[in-house]
Amino acid sequence: MSLTIESLSHQITDGHGQRQLLSDVSLAVGAGECIGLMGDSGSGKTTLLNLIAGLEPIQQGQITLAGVLMAQANDKQLSELRKQKLGIIFQQYNLLSSLSVQDNIAFSAKLAGRYDADLCRELAQQLEIESLLTQYPQTLSGGELQRVAIARAMSAQPKLLLADEPTGNLDDNNSHRVVALLMKLVKSHDTALVLVTHSVHVAATMDKRYQLANGQLTLVNQSPKRDG
Ligand SMILES: Nc1ncnc2c1ncn2[C@@H]1O[C@H](COP(=O)(O)OP(=O)(O)OP(=O)(O)O)[C@@H](O)[C@H]1O
Ligand SMILES: [Mg+2]
Repeated sequence: MSLTIESLSHQITDGHGQRQLLSDVSLAVGAGECIGLMGDSGSGKTTLLNLIAGLEPIQQGQITLAGVLMAQANDKQLSELRKQKLGIIFQQYNLLSSLSVQDNIAFSAKLAGRYDADLCRELAQQLEIESLLTQYPQTLSGGELQRVAIARAMSAQPKLLLADEPTGNLDDNNSHRVVALLMKLVKSHDTALVLVTHSVHVAATMDKRYQLANGQLTLVNQSPKRDG
């Protein structure tokens, strides 16, 4: 399994006092498997991704990422785990404005000590951003930025890719195109994908869909087997 979550519970303290955000959440994601994560605003989707990424401490339960039990890892090991095994696509893209598109794509791979110029070229080609490589993020459209963010996350060949509403700022056409490209990429690299989305159409293209509500994670329904 690329990711295993066992009986994860998480409490937060907000203006209304203590609240159980996640109760006994379990999930297993295999290599190359694509999971759609849905749920109302404030239901805890981003918090769940942050816990998986080791960006928030685990209160209760266990998360195993690429064979590593996260609760047993120290800060240095967690940061190494993130660099080596995890790709993250943030809703706000988080590209580095001082770097060209090309250098943004290479960035995470270099950080992981796994830079492969051929792979970067191939990703740029597959995501149709070859003509943008020497430009800077400020000059790109939302759909272009999103595709660069995908290329950057994939260039380090992560075992697991977390994507938090990656199509939130895109129109229907572009969001379908970006998700189709993303699915094709993760499948061909055997990368597991957990994708947060508010779009039922985007969720419908994933292998499995989960709904987060009242702290509970529920499998919604299985998509019909696709050919090929
Ligand atoms: N560290 C924290 N301290 C207190 N409250 C928090 C903390 N992190 C998140 N929350 C609260 O937890 C709830 C869930 O937040 P989260 O960002 O996970 O929701 P979400 O499902 O991603 O929502 P959206 O769809 O709007 O992005 C929100 O009510 C938020 O205010
Ligand atoms: Mg969120």
